[in-house]
Amino acid sequence: MTDFPAIIPGGGNLAAFLKGNKAAVDDALADAGALLFRGFDVPDPMAFDAAVEGYGEPGFTYEESLSNAVRTNVTPRVFTANEAPPTTEIFLHHEMAQTPLYPSKLFFFCEIAAEQGGATPVCRSDWVLERLEQAAPEFVARVEAEGVRYTNVMPGSDDAGSGQGRSWRSTLSVDDRDGAEARLAELGYSWEWLQGDVLRATTPALPAIRTLSDGRRTFFNQLIAAFRGWADRRNDPNRSITFGGGEPITAEDMAPAIEIADELTADIPWQAGDVALVDNFLVMHGRRPFGGKRRVLASLVA
Ligand code: FE2
Repeated sequence: MTDFPAIIPGGGNLAAFLKGNKAAVDDALADAGALLFRGFDVPDPMAFDAAVEGYGEPGFTYEESLSNAVRTNVTPRVFTANEAPPTTEIFLHHEMAQTPLYPSKLFFFCEIAAEQGGATPVCRSDWVLERLEQAAPEFVARVEAEGVRYTNVMPGSDDAGSGQGRSWRSTLSVDDRDGAEARLAELGYSWEWLQGDVLRATTPALPAIRTLSDGRRTFFNQLIAAFRGWADRRNDPNRSITFGGGEPITAEDMAPAIEIADELTADIPWQAGDVALVDNFLVMHGRRPFGGKRRVLASLVA
């Protein structure tokens, strides 16, 4: 069985390594789904930025994304992974699969490893789907046929105290309500304005299962993270996900997927200087709670 995540040990300049070994790196990534480059000389965000450039694929920017996380750009291609508080667990998800716009791959860089906890859990989504088709065939058939909808309640200005705290202004790249409504209509969302400059937005039905170019099928969605984690002052996880037809997805519906994914999850145990590359169509990721200072940066590939 493939090591997961696969560790690529090395030394010296990671940018040069990625540039010189692009095809082999991509083969290894297709095989494992997640690679950990360890022992290379990546001291700071600039070196990480250079490594991402060395890999040579176009970036997917945070500004144009519909991500719900509050982040801060560090270099043009590098930003903080999620500003949510250390005690907040971020549950398994495919990056931005709750929106119609998502990156194909993610780079992570550990600048400072947490004193306790703080690993990045990763989980093969093709393996999850294979098991889930045995355990809950009706659920899989239904999300495949109907798709799924996500409802998110967004504040008027960024709330870094929440994993879902990005404001609607920032999320939609607009200044006012008219602009927000135009953008939502263009994306096929429905919406409702709530008290206190707060916006509740519901996506159109989005696919919950994806077939990769090589035929593998994955549980490509944000259901686990939305169901387990979209809880803050504004968001109730029990109202965050529905089948495409509008019926709620219940705790009972979600239990098998959550249990199987937990069983198949492996941790990336960060050391300072580590860089990971994750195939966003094949592998889910999250963030364990942590203690002490931790700085993990991210960069997305279009
Ligand atoms: Fe993420």
